[in-house]
Amino acid sequence: MGRSILFVAGEGLPFVKTGGLADVIGALPKALVQKGHDARVVLPLYSKIIEKHYDKLERLGTIQIHSGWIDQPATYYKAEADGVIYYFVEHQGYFEREGLYGYEDDGERFAFFQRAVLDMIYFIDWWPNIIHSNDWQTGMIPLMAHACYADDYRYQSIKHVYTIHNMAFQGNFGVDMLPTCLGLDYSYFDDGSIKFDTGISFMKAGIVYADKITTVSPTYSNEILTETYGERMDAVLRYRRGDLWGIVNGIDTDLWNPKTDKLLAKNFDVKSYASGKKANKLALQKKLGLEETDKKPLIGLVSRLTNQKGVYMITDRIREIMGMDVQFVVLGTGEANAENAFKWMEQEYKGQAVYYCGYNEDLAHLIYAASDLFLMPSLYEPCGIGQLIAMHYGALPVVRETGGLKDTVQPFNQYTGEGNGFSFWAANADDMVYTLRWAVEQYNTNRPGWKGLVKSAMTTDVSWNQSAGVYEQLYYEICNWPDE
Ligand code: ADP
Ligand code: GLC
Repeated sequence: MGRSILFVAGEGLPFVKTGGLADVIGALPKALVQKGHDARVVLPLYSKIIEKHYDKLERLGTIQIHSGWIDQPATYYKAEADGVIYYFVEHQGYFEREGLYGYEDDGERFAFFQRAVLDMIYFIDWWPNIIHSNDWQTGMIPLMAHACYADDYRYQSIKHVYTIHNMAFQGNFGVDMLPTCLGLDYSYFDDGSIKFDTGISFMKAGIVYADKITTVSPTYSNEILTETYGERMDAVLRYRRGDLWGIVNGIDTDLWNPKTDKLLAKNFDVKSYASGKKANKLALQKKLGLEETDKKPLIGLVSRLTNQKGVYMITDRIREIMGMDVQFVVLGTGEANAENAFKWMEQEYKGQAVYYCGYNEDLAHLIYAASDLFLMPSLYEPCGIGQLIAMHYGALPVVRETGGLKDTVQPFNQYTGEGNGFSFWAANADDMVYTLRWAVEQYNTNRPGWKGLVKSAMTTDVSWNQSAGVYEQLYYEICNWPDE
């Protein structure tokens, strides 16, 4: 029998996206619905959603939310996409802003959101078996559900899954958040359960109070138990390691399908790969003002430009990379140093390198389709969505062996011909350049080997099918019900 699961997150496709979390929220619930579960999603109603999707929203009603000193109205909306019901929490002051996160009052905004989500359950009178919370924005939900509704058995019988998509973003706030915004007393600080330094941590609350914790790849689930990757949460994670699962992400293969993708210059599959790649490369070169040639390998990079993504290994070695006689297309925004370095690259290597500074989903599709190689040398990577899309579009990933990159990219073995990409282990630029050079050499000199790699990349199962099945197992396990 199917379970009912409410996914709570700070972003989700097809409504709003800043990174891979949105890809997951747009695809995993859909995969679960297809497996017969009642999976729904709730998100804050940001300006970006109102601008693009207002006509799809159905207004459900308004209630007053009380959480500590917060006494504010929440208006709920509903929409359907791909068979999944999405709910939205509207509060003009908190959510109708230019961006999603990164504001001074994020603690208050997401305290309100979490409480409004929990209140929504009785308002719509839909009682899920499981609430599946994601990242710091939703980490307080398991504790709030228990502490703020202690005498309501309906809340007490809900089970909680908490998924960590990135250990670095923890939602750490001052201790006064407890009475002012969360309606909780100081005992949760005093007993240490959500204490972090001198304040509290939403992420730690999720780790301590959820029934099960997951993260987005098996390797990352081991890495975060160590001091190097644990972002100072490794001790509490080790304490809960028995309940920690590492489940690798997939991608939405309806949205990301080179055979049907309307944003490409030419559709292709594994058989028509060569001509498809060529046509998309030409279209991208034309669009971005690159030299129009199919002789040079094209390296793509679509990413947040932050230290996590290993971008400084790249910016430090631009001359060596461009010296390989390649074309390089970078799409992304982020830290000023990285952006400036790529702006310089574009000036220095006119016609061979382009930096598009911005967020552009349409262009991302074309870059994946046009690239021969996809560079993703992350210092750490919980899962990574970019390399999965790249493989599916016949762009071979060049990655560092960490987190989900290690779990999803099988490095080329020149003796057996096996593999679906290239990888290196140490987080240093020499190894990255060496591996990239080797990959470029394969492209230039080993056509049969390259073809085999592309074939194996494009036929690697990057869909949600398998992983949705693992989440299903997890839900069955925590619901503790015999299966009908
Ligand atoms: P993270 O979530 O850490 O940023 P992921 O690899 O999991 O990294 O997911 C990134 C997602 O965001 C991918 O779908 C990628 O294509 C997309 N993306 C990143 N930067 C941009 C951009 N500037 N324009 C369009 N899409 C982007
Ligand atoms: C985070 C991680 C990324 C992961 C994504 C979705 O943004 O940085 O590795 O793929 O979440 O889980």
